[in-house]
Amino acid sequence: MSEGDPGIGRRYLQETRYTRAGLGERGRVYPRGEPYKHYPAASMRVKLNPEAGRRPQDLWECLKRRRSLRQYRERPLTQEELAALLWATQGISLAVRNFLFRTAPSAGALYPVETYLAVLRVEGLEPGIWHFHVPEFSLELLSAGHYGPALAAACLSQNFMATAAVDFIWTGILNRCQWKYRERAIRYLFLDAGHICQNLMLAATALGLGCCPVGAFFDEEVERLVGVDGEEEVSLYLAAVGPL
Ligand SMILES: Cc1cc2nc3c(=O)[nH]c(=O)nc-3n(C[C@H](O)[C@H](O)[C@H](O)COP(=O)(O)O)c2cc1C
Repeated sequence: MSEGDPGIGRRYLQETRYTRAGLGERGRVYPRGEPYKHYPAASMRVKLNPEAGRRPQDLWECLKRRRSLRQYRERPLTQEELAALLWATQGISLAVRNFLFRTAPSAGALYPVETYLAVLRVEGLEPGIWHFHVPEFSLELLSAGHYGPALAAACLSQNFMATAAVDFIWTGILNRCQWKYRERAIRYLFLDAGHICQNLMLAATALGLGCCPVGAFFDEEVERLVGVDGEEEVSLYLAAVGPL
């Protein structure tokens, strides 16, 4: 970076500002991506009950009790607990025409964030990397195996990723948002992921589970683990969840 150059981050923020004079550069056209991802060739699929596992809890108490927690007990998560967590993050709460509105908001209802799970200890689910199929509320097995240590290593040796029961891995699909918002879309990817993670943390709190967000990771290693290219689909954010 040369002297006087504000740096790529500050330049990005400056160049993607909406002003009264215009809503950013209009030149580039991006293809419209698919609204959600699906792995028809997955070696196993498990349908979950979107209404399972919920427990009535006081929202204000959950907001107060929510903490980033990094120590978990060894008991496995139940499928009902996992279903409740997934529903809180990306469950469909309203279907209107082609729009499947979800529990977390998304800029323009474009939902560019995809959810993958590294399942380490969940009753009745093979350990491995799974993809969450939103409209079916099902999990698609992408790769069976014990990925805790590899994921912890990819997260700068944060070992709680390997002692958790399940790790959420969120990626962003650029075209799904850029066809509409072009360069400003990148801001929205991260905002969307933040909403999703907060929903996860509040749901985990309501279920008496521990949860910790993770923004420190080697992007390429995470992308390799979930099998995405790191260009059109990039790693955004992760979170560990486990019993307390
Ligand atoms: C964007 C973001 C990235 C974070 N990354 C990590 C991380 O890589 N490792 C970690 O242990 N905690 C991480 N955290 C958790 C913060 O350390 C935690 O939210 C902060 O210390 C405040 O504590 P609280 O969440 O208990 O209120 C992250 C939080 C956010 C919002």
